[in-house]
Amino acid sequence: MTQLQNPTPLAAPDQADKSLAPLPKGGNSAADQVKVTAVTHWTDKLFSFQTNRPPSFRFQSGEFAMIGLADNDGKAITRAYSIASPHWDDYLEFYSIIVPDGPLTSRLRHIQIGDDIILRPKTTGTLNLARLRDGKRLYLLATGTGFAPFASLIRDPETYERFDEVILVHGCRTIAELGYSQKIVADSRAHPLIGEMVTAQLHYVPSVTRENFTQTGRITTLLADGKLASSLSLPPLDADFDRIMICGSIGLNQDIAAQLLAKNFQEGNLSSPGDYVIERAFVGDGI
Ligand SMILES: Cc1cc2nc3c(=O)[nH]c(=O)nc-3n(C[C@H](O)[C@H](O)[C@H](O)COP(=O)(O)OP(=O)(O)OC[C@H]3O[C@@H](n4cnc5c(N)ncnc54)[C@H](O)[C@@H]3O)c2cc1C
Ligand SMILES: NC(=O)c1ccc[n+]([C@@H]2O[C@H](COP(=O)([O-])OP(=O)(O)OC[C@H]3O[C@@H](n4cnc5c(N)ncnc54)[C@H](OP(=O)(O)O)[C@@H]3O)[C@@H](O)[C@H]2O)c1
Repeated sequence: MTQLQNPTPLAAPDQADKSLAPLPKGGNSAADQVKVTAVTHWTDKLFSFQTNRPPSFRFQSGEFAMIGLADNDGKAITRAYSIASPHWDDYLEFYSIIVPDGPLTSRLRHIQIGDDIILRPKTTGTLNLARLRDGKRLYLLATGTGFAPFASLIRDPETYERFDEVILVHGCRTIAELGYSQKIVADSRAHPLIGEMVTAQLHYVPSVTRENFTQTGRITTLLADGKLASSLSLPPLDADFDRIMICGSIGLNQDIAAQLLAKNFQEGNLSSPGDYVIERAFVGDGI
């Protein structure tokens, strides 16, 4: 498939004294390594990158895998990362925050084309279409890097076969932090294979909380005051018809779950599909 072009909105971070350590010897099999094929820095704390995809690597839309790098002692530092690319494509893509002193991302931010990355073969996750009952509309609610699993789900034809309308809401602090989701949505609408269904069925609602923008406000507020549905001429949230996937900070996840429980939405799992599912976009309270 066509590779995502690298528009390089920002210069890559300084590489001067930050060369990556070689992958650990012995601890990782060759099957656990992939090569970086593209890197795009969207802001000074957000970037995306692509790798080759091992032929045996399988995943479902919305799942995450453990990826990482070796530290200076050759020890693997791995973290959970949602797979942002579609399950049917021949490359893998990830969307990453940069945590200044983060054990992994303070190194990962310096990756370049040709570098090796650790990719563990097991994938898992709760943002799974199989955990949701059938419905009319699917709401995908994300803040920050919580958009990553939805970058995969909005490119999965099954999403559009299961639901008439898909409403993707991406909440960020600033307009610049929307750059990645804006590009993925625009490319998906123009895609020769999925473009028609994406254009017809996907509503994209980017919202910003700390700058002026066409849509402002936290997702929780947009949901609670009914503005989100009314701005799209959709009926208010209804557990009979609407299904929800949530991926953000623990605060966002809890606040939305509380709103949904008050409207009789039930959380889904594999043995008992429900009305909504939740995944934390990261572990921890804040940088
Ligand atoms: C299921 C799951 C999926 C994840 N998917 C992604 C993903 O697709 N992209 C991604 O960038 N991260 C993702 N993460 C977070 C990721 O696992 C790491 O925490 C992140 O890469 C930072 O690693 P680190 O070692 O540099 O810092 P860590 O020591 O892991 O984190 C330090 C602190 O930074 C903050 N933080 C970490 N990650 C984020 C984030 N993404 N957004 C906001 N604050 C954060 C938290 O407060 C955390 O305590 C995911 C986490 C989980 C649990
Ligand atoms: N030092 C800095 O300048 C700086 C800048 C950006 C991020 N950060 C740090 O980087 C980390 C990640 O930042 P991030 O912007 O990706 O994530 P974030 O802080 O979770 O914010 C992302 C979006 O989610 C909103 N949000 C936060 N909590 C919410 C809740 N309970 N309900 C609904 N919406 C909620 C935010 O709105 P609000 O704007 O209203 O909070 C923002 O629009 C954070 O831990 C943050 O502390 C630091």
